[in-house]
Amino acid sequence: MPDDSQRNIRTRLSKKLFVKTYGCQMNVYDSGRMTDVLARLDYLETETVEDADMIVLNTCHIREKAAEKVYSELGRLRALKERRREAGGDLMIAVAGCVAQAEGEEMARRAPVVDIIVGPQTYHRLPDLITRHAREGGTVIDTDFPARDRFTSLPSRRHGAGRVAFLSIQEGCDKFCTFCVVPYTRGAEFSRPARDILDEAKALLASGVVEVVLLGQNVNAWHGEGTDGRPWTLARLIGELASLDRLRRIRYTTSHPSDMSGDLIRAHGEIDSLMPYLHLPVQSGSDRILKAMNRRHTTADYLGVIAAVRKARPDIAISGDFIVGFPGEDDADFAATLSLVREVSYASAFSFKYSPRPGTPAATADGQVPDEVKAERLGILQHLLKDQQNTFNRATVGHTVPVLLERRGRYSHQLVGRSPWLQAVHVDAGERHLGSLIDVTLTEARANSMAGMLAA
Ligand code: SAH
Ligand code: SF4
Ligand code: F3S
Repeated sequence: MPDDSQRNIRTRLSKKLFVKTYGCQMNVYDSGRMTDVLARLDYLETETVEDADMIVLNTCHIREKAAEKVYSELGRLRALKERRREAGGDLMIAVAGCVAQAEGEEMARRAPVVDIIVGPQTYHRLPDLITRHAREGGTVIDTDFPARDRFTSLPSRRHGAGRVAFLSIQEGCDKFCTFCVVPYTRGAEFSRPARDILDEAKALLASGVVEVVLLGQNVNAWHGEGTDGRPWTLARLIGELASLDRLRRIRYTTSHPSDMSGDLIRAHGEIDSLMPYLHLPVQSGSDRILKAMNRRHTTADYLGVIAAVRKARPDIAISGDFIVGFPGEDDADFAATLSLVREVSYASAFSFKYSPRPGTPAATADGQVPDEVKAERLGILQHLLKDQQNTFNRATVGHTVPVLLERRGRYSHQLVGRSPWLQAVHVDAGERHLGSLIDVTLTEARANSMAGMLAA
């Protein structure tokens, strides 16, 4: 540990880094790791754009809106950079993540203000890219899919020492759903070896983490060499993690219905620290549309998995993702989605209007649905899902459950945490409880969260 005077000198000499993250949890994880990489060059994180020497936008390409946000942000940053230069200073702008991967060259043309464009597979090379940019000027682009050396080239973790940590275990996707950009932006499916994952988990636990969220675009497809040299499944990996000292809670996201294996389903009934929450996107309740989406499962397969998971863990909260207005979706298909939703009864869910993505098969398919129809269907679906969420939340009122109090609330003497079912819970509790996993009685279901009080 440096003493205070050393630390003060370091703060004065260091450069300031501002990272803005869009998109999924994988991007949140990657942003943390980029911060670790840049810390080696003495970049310290700052909360404000205004005093940053370097800004990284870690971007998402999943829907058109997500991608367009990046360009409006770059417009604002161009003005900031000009002001800086007029004052004799400078500002380095890097774009990382899935828009960078998908649009590299095009972005360099459309937004020349960007100094560095780096894809999700190559951000460990940021230090080299900064050097190259200093030497060559212009926009430096690195969107290769190198042999998978990223994890082994990353420094050990130091970013964020909260109680809950994301831990990336699987990347990329080979499923090629016809609407989705992920296989193109994140590349082929890859599972990290168990040894690496366990080492990273142990480092997190040593820094005070008590909950890990295992991440992957298709996390339940994780399979890798175990520490015993044998092939392991996700269920086995979770079992090993559960035996680590001080690890109190395990979650994983996002899963694909056709990779929900029997041992993983059983694990939900057998491993106490595996939280009773499953995010299992289905996208549509119409078999015809699922086929056109290349989802590789039917509604019957999906409902079968849900039934089996509920048998293993009756109180499990089910969450999902839905797309409305996929090309060819008619009223009957949409009605089938509503009926599947009624049958499953979701604790929470995300739903989207279909957004055509360049380069994906569905974008040029016949039967594109007009936006008004998409909007109407989305409204109806979201109304039903919201109702189900309220029903789920109300049913938990009166239960006393462990809540991990992760952060301060908006009011004094208020802390916010997560229930086992991933509900946000606002608790009247003093500062000394911050970071503790403590029994809370849920007292009220509110619009997007629960209220609770410390159990006696
Ligand atoms: N790997 C996960 C999630 C991928 S992206 C899975 O297989 O489910 C997260 C969600 O975004 C998807 O589940 C889907 O509902 C939505 N999504 C992906 N592409 C989309 C598109 N082109 N238009 C609208 N929503 C989309
Ligand atoms: Fe996209 Fe489908 Fe892969 Fe999920 S499974 S990341 S929706 S291609
Ligand atoms: Fe978006 Fe890329 Fe994640 S497209 S959802 S940031 S994998």
